[in-house]
Amino acid sequence: MAMPRTIAIDGPAGAGKSTIGALVAERLGYLYLDTGAMYRAVALAAQRKTIDPDDAARLAALAGSVRITIGPPTTQDGRAYTVLLDGSDVTWEIRSAEIDRIVSQVARVSGVRDAMVAQQRALARKGRVVMVGRDIGTVVLPNAEKKIFLTASAGERARRREEELASRGERRPRQDLLNEILRRDRLDTEREVSPLKAADDAVVVQTDGLSVKEALERVLGAISPRS
Ligand code: CDP
Repeated sequence: MAMPRTIAIDGPAGAGKSTIGALVAERLGYLYLDTGAMYRAVALAAQRKTIDPDDAARLAALAGSVRITIGPPTTQDGRAYTVLLDGSDVTWEIRSAEIDRIVSQVARVSGVRDAMVAQQRALARKGRVVMVGRDIGTVVLPNAEKKIFLTASAGERARRREEELASRGERRPRQDLLNEILRRDRLDTEREVSPLKAADDAVVVQTDGLSVKEALERVLGAISPRS
């Protein structure tokens, strides 16, 4: 059976999309694009310019003017990719608690989404890509040849986020992380434009209790069923 050329992986915050997406891409030798990093970079640009996360008009103008580039890691410091915002490295800065707090407000602005989605589609046209986000299978690439919806309970996702931060030497109380995840889930699923939901033709992979390796095997199994 031929490998799908475009693979869409969607799911809520902390479900493991970024980790699994990167590993799937590496295994298949495909390009990996974490679209969440693009929305985070716009949120960072807005924060730097002190634009209110509810000012849709200024956010849309900003998204149309900033240059966001995501490419292979430029340093071996544990990053899966390097994110440049107008040429400067913001790979770690976009992961701050402050960006966690505002990113979903920024991402619900349709003008922001239009600008990002256009870039995402342009990249997918080249083929052999694993694209990760919230709306990839539903809106960005509705014709993706394989769609995965990766999910886990909110408690499990908060636990993983705590571990991920701890591995970078950061500590935040689990309860705060859980509240943040629930708030972001609500904003992402209830927004009018491109809400987070599984595409009708997505394979849902529940990852509670699975190790990264086990989740990866399930996703790879769904992508390339043994015939
Ligand atoms: O890594 P984590 O799952 O916490 O979030 P992310 O994938 O970096 O995405 C950050 C935020 O960007 C999400 O909470 C969404 O609000 C937004 N996002 C989106 O709206 N559409 C996408 N395709 C990807 C992210």
